[in-house]
Amino acid sequence: MTASASDKLLDWYDKHARELPWRNPPGEPVPNDPAWPYRVWLSEVMLQQTTVAAVKPYFAKFTRVWPSVFDLAVASDDDVMAAWAGLGYYSRARNLVKCAREVARRGGFPQTEAELRELPGLGAYTAAAIAAIAFGERAVVVDANVERVVARLFAIEEPLPGARKAIRQHADEITPKRRAGDFAQAMMDLGSQVCTTKAPRCLLCPLSEECEGRKAGEPERLPIKPQKKAKPERRGTAFWIERDAQVWLVTRPGTGMLGGMRALPDDGWSAREDGSGEAPIAGEAEQLGAVRHTFTHAHLTLSVMGIKATTAPPGDGEWWPTGEIEEAGLPTLFVKAARLALASN
Ligand code: ADE
Repeated sequence: MTASASDKLLDWYDKHARELPWRNPPGEPVPNDPAWPYRVWLSEVMLQQTTVAAVKPYFAKFTRVWPSVFDLAVASDDDVMAAWAGLGYYSRARNLVKCAREVARRGGFPQTEAELRELPGLGAYTAAAIAAIAFGERAVVVDANVERVVARLFAIEEPLPGARKAIRQHADEITPKRRAGDFAQAMMDLGSQVCTTKAPRCLLCPLSEECEGRKAGEPERLPIKPQKKAKPERRGTAFWIERDAQVWLVTRPGTGMLGGMRALPDDGWSAREDGSGEAPIAGEAEQLGAVRHTFTHAHLTLSVMGIKATTAPPGDGEWWPTGEIEEAGLPTLFVKAARLALASN
């Protein structure tokens, strides 16, 4: 892409940038405010594998409850996990707290891509995005949207993931020295609003004249994806153990699936390939039905077993009022199971 093409993209961004709560208006200098890198970091972590629409209410809640990285650093793990509930990919929340504590220990965010990369759980993409957007460093920011734009612009025919090296090189070539954060976000906006996966809107694209993918025809073919493996089907059982309008909740172990999250007790399906297990306590048990949930790596059918308890189940847990279950911070899978149990009460 010629220099004038990166100018064209920035001109387009000046007119069409999305207004987002974590974003500086186009063309404005990076704000000199300690809360600024915090907001950029938080938004970038939340936006990984998650849509802007899903992130907005969580970003609002987190910045209201924890307005600075120092506030987040002293929050309890449980409160942060509960606030994250429903956003998915829970290892991000565990890493978020670890990272906030390290940033607070250092007295604030480091300001270069290389130093940001040293923070716990902070990967190459996030370090580059924060360096560019929060500090104006020329960093090469490649997320899935940018990957798609670049693969089309340069008609990269090699399939993913092998194409990533060439995509990165081309992304590096077209990244300007000035307006690093605006350029990164202009590429993201172009990818999500114009150069979309299935039906790119080439007539609206500021780069259509130089787009090799468009010239070759069918730019929507690119980037070429590897064949998707079918997701395995898994089965498990969760237990709705009720006593005096309260339900028994546990906190899942810190690592592994949905780690650290409050949950209904279950038969250990997440650690097994398939099959179902025994109820954790004896009692008057009743099959209430099943819910379906899809994770990145599998589909799950979770049967829900209702048990009227007379004593507390063995092991750690807590009685939670069934009428306040929506405030328990359960991940979506268990919210579905809880709603099923309550509907069948
Ligand atoms: N996706 C990831 N980061 C983003 C950002 N800063 N703006 C819009 N979409 C994004």
